[in-house]
Amino acid sequence: MKIKIGKILKENIALKKEIERLYLIRDISYKIVSNLNLSDLLKIIMETVKERLRVEACSLLLLDSKKEELYFEIALGEKGDVIKRYTIKVGEGIAGKIAQTRTPIIENNVEKSDIFNPKFDYLTSFKTKSILGVPMLYKDELIGVIEAINKKDDKPFDYDDLDLLQIISNEAAIAVKNALLYNNLKSLFFDTIESLVNAIDAKDPYTHGHSKRVSEFSVLIGKELNLDSDYLEKIRLAGLLHDIGKIGVEDTILRKKDKLSEDELIEIKKHPTIGKNILAPIDLLEDIVKGIEEHHERYDGKGYPKGLKGEEISLLGRIISVADTLDALTSDRPYRKGISLDLALERIKEESGRQFDPSVVEALLSLYRKGLLKCSGF
Ligand SMILES: [Fe+2]
Repeated sequence: MKIKIGKILKENIALKKEIERLYLIRDISYKIVSNLNLSDLLKIIMETVKERLRVEACSLLLLDSKKEELYFEIALGEKGDVIKRYTIKVGEGIAGKIAQTRTPIIENNVEKSDIFNPKFDYLTSFKTKSILGVPMLYKDELIGVIEAINKKDDKPFDYDDLDLLQIISNEAAIAVKNALLYNNLKSLFFDTIESLVNAIDAKDPYTHGHSKRVSEFSVLIGKELNLDSDYLEKIRLAGLLHDIGKIGVEDTILRKKDKLSEDELIEIKKHPTIGKNILAPIDLLEDIVKGIEEHHERYDGKGYPKGLKGEEISLLGRIISVADTLDALTSDRPYRKGISLDLALERIKEESGRQFDPSVVEALLSLYRKGLLKCSGF
C-alpha cells in the first residue's frame, strides 16, 4: 500500500511539473505573438527565468557570427549594466563553451571548474558561485546562449532547472529569429523602394536626391509632432514615394527648363493621381497612398488634384507638402539658385494657414530653432 501511495505521489509531482511547464510555454508563446518589440520581449522572458529558477542573475547573449563572439543582449541582476560592456569569444569561459559545443552546462561549484573564466567576475566585482547555461538554437542554427547564475539559498541547479531553461531558450530563439527575419525583410523592402525612388529621381536630373531629402524632412517634422514610430515609418515611405507618379509624366515635360505651357501644367499635375493608382493595389501601403495623392493639396482648398481643405487632407499629405516645398526652395535648379534656409522658412511661414497646415509649419520652425534642420542648398 505504502509503495502505491508513494508511486501516486511521485506521478502527481511529475504531472504537476509537466502542467507548470506547459503553462510556461503557453505564457511565453503568447508573449512572442503579442506586439512587443524584441528587446521588451526578451527582457520579460529573462525576468521569467530569474523568477522561475530563483537565481541572483541571468543573461541572454546573442551570437555575432562574423566576430565569433557573444554579446549581452539582456543582463539582469546587480551587475547587469556593467557586464553588458563586455563580449565573450566563442570557446571562452562557460558561455563560450556552450556556444562552441551547443551543449548545456551545469556547474554548481565554479571554483572547481576548469572551464569557468573568472575574468568577468573580476571586471564586474561579482561573485559567481554556480551557473546553468543552455544554447539558444533555432533548428540547427546557434542564436545565442542563456545563463542563469547563483541559485538562491545556496541550492544546486538540477536537471529540472536545465529542462525549464532549455524550454525558455527554445522559445527565445524563435522570437529572435522571427525578429531578424522580419528586419531583413523590412530592409529588403526599403532597399527596393529606394532603388525605385532613385529611378524616379533619375528621370528628372535636376532634382537628384529630392525624394530622399523630402522623406528625411518629413520624418523630422513627424518626430517634432510627437507621432509614434509606426506613423513615422509611414511618413518615411510616403516621403520617399511622393513623386512616384512622375514615372507616368513625359520626360520632355519633366526636363523642360522654360516655363511650362497650360497643357504641360495639366500633365504634370496628374502625378499625384498617377502615384495613387500605381500604389493602390498594394494593401500594405493604403495609408501611404493618401499622403502621395494629397501632397499638392493646399490647406485653403486651392490645391490639386481634389481641392481638399484643412484636415480633409491627410496629415501625411500636409507634412509632405511642407517638406517638399522646403527642399524645392533650398535646392539649386538649372534656371535658378536655391534660396537660403532662413528665406525659405520665411516664405513657408507666410503661407501658414494658406498653402500649409499651421501646426506643421510650427513644427518645422521649432526644428529650426533647435538647430535640427540641415538643407542641401547651403
Ligand atoms: Fe510632387
